[in-house]
Amino acid sequence: MAKKTIKDIDLNGKRVFVRVDFNVPLDDKGKVSDNTRIVRALPTIKYLIDHNAKVILASHLGNPKTDEDKKRLTMDSVKVELQKVLGKEVKKLDDSVGEVVRSEVFKMKEGDVILLENTRFHKGEKKKDPDYSKELAELADIAVNDAFGTAHRAHASNCGVGEYIPVYAGFLMEKEIDMIGKTLENPERPFVAILGGAKVSSKIGVIENLLPKVDKLLVGGAMIFTFFKAMGYKTGDSLVEEDKIEVAKNILDKAKSLNKDIVFPIDVVIADDINENVNTKICSIENIPNGMKGLDIGPDSIKKFKEQLKDAKTVIWNGPMGVFEIDKFAKGTIEVAKSLAELDNAKTIIGGGDSAAAVNKFHLDDKMTHISTGGGASLEYMEGKELPGIAIIEEK
Ligand code: 3PG
Repeated sequence: MAKKTIKDIDLNGKRVFVRVDFNVPLDDKGKVSDNTRIVRALPTIKYLIDHNAKVILASHLGNPKTDEDKKRLTMDSVKVELQKVLGKEVKKLDDSVGEVVRSEVFKMKEGDVILLENTRFHKGEKKKDPDYSKELAELADIAVNDAFGTAHRAHASNCGVGEYIPVYAGFLMEKEIDMIGKTLENPERPFVAILGGAKVSSKIGVIENLLPKVDKLLVGGAMIFTFFKAMGYKTGDSLVEEDKIEVAKNILDKAKSLNKDIVFPIDVVIADDINENVNTKICSIENIPNGMKGLDIGPDSIKKFKEQLKDAKTVIWNGPMGVFEIDKFAKGTIEVAKSLAELDNAKTIIGGGDSAAAVNKFHLDDKMTHISTGGGASLEYMEGKELPGIAIIEEK
């Protein structure tokens, strides 16, 4: 079902409460070290300004618990970065609710932008407390949810406010729904999914949801070793989730019964430790010696994966192929990213988190159709779950 967006409403003179996901990484000086999420929210913020709205921005930042955390996790650095990329003055307030906030908000002129303090400074945020939700909602006439990254959380500022004022989708939220949700509903074929990452346990839901929909499922990352153990191979000291071997067997059976191809690597890069200085070897997947662990997919696997991808019309990728943070184990992830970048006629969707970080690290971001701003949110969305932050948005 389609959601109403900011294009469907009259914004003129309205106070608009905009939930963005400015949960961005900070460096050791407390400055924003990656502004992607701020930049990706700009089209919505600019549109609201251009349509004479009074823009009240709200986000959480980290998980503040102690007073020390609260000093570190104020939105001050976010304000500095936002002003820089927006090219306009932003007024940052020291709270998200209360008398001072109300008076500042009611003084706003059309086109003004206010940034509220970290919503998680209030305990009511994570509990979706009705009083806190109502106080936030009373600041505005309508709400906009552009925080796809937080859409899997049912918190006050992204869901609770929707019990008091209507919520519309911002452009980033609309794009994420379009790219992930709609693509999964109706992909152009062949549709290939690539899943990686360390643990089968974190990908079970995604595999179960994607398996019936895809034409092929390519699997890499350390989670292959749980499958390989299930197949009876020698996995050496590779990461195996012993308690998920049965799950892996069930997934293999399910793929067979659905007549779907799960494509596994055929060789792996092994080493006896995970650091930049170790000696590495290429090994076939059936016989990893004791004392060695698999840390990346090997050259023949890369060739095989490239072959599987070449005719794809839709590709969804979630999870790296190896320990890509270390150059010696990054090749599989780099080559998969490059193969996607070379697919001129395919829709390529990167499901956030580590795979998005990898694509950015290798400077291939502008070659992809969409890189999700969600980590946990995109994973849960790919699991086919209804995300509360999307459910609360008005239907068309
Ligand atoms: C994220 O970075 O995944 C979102 O901002 C949600 O943050 P959280 O995991 O702290 O709720």
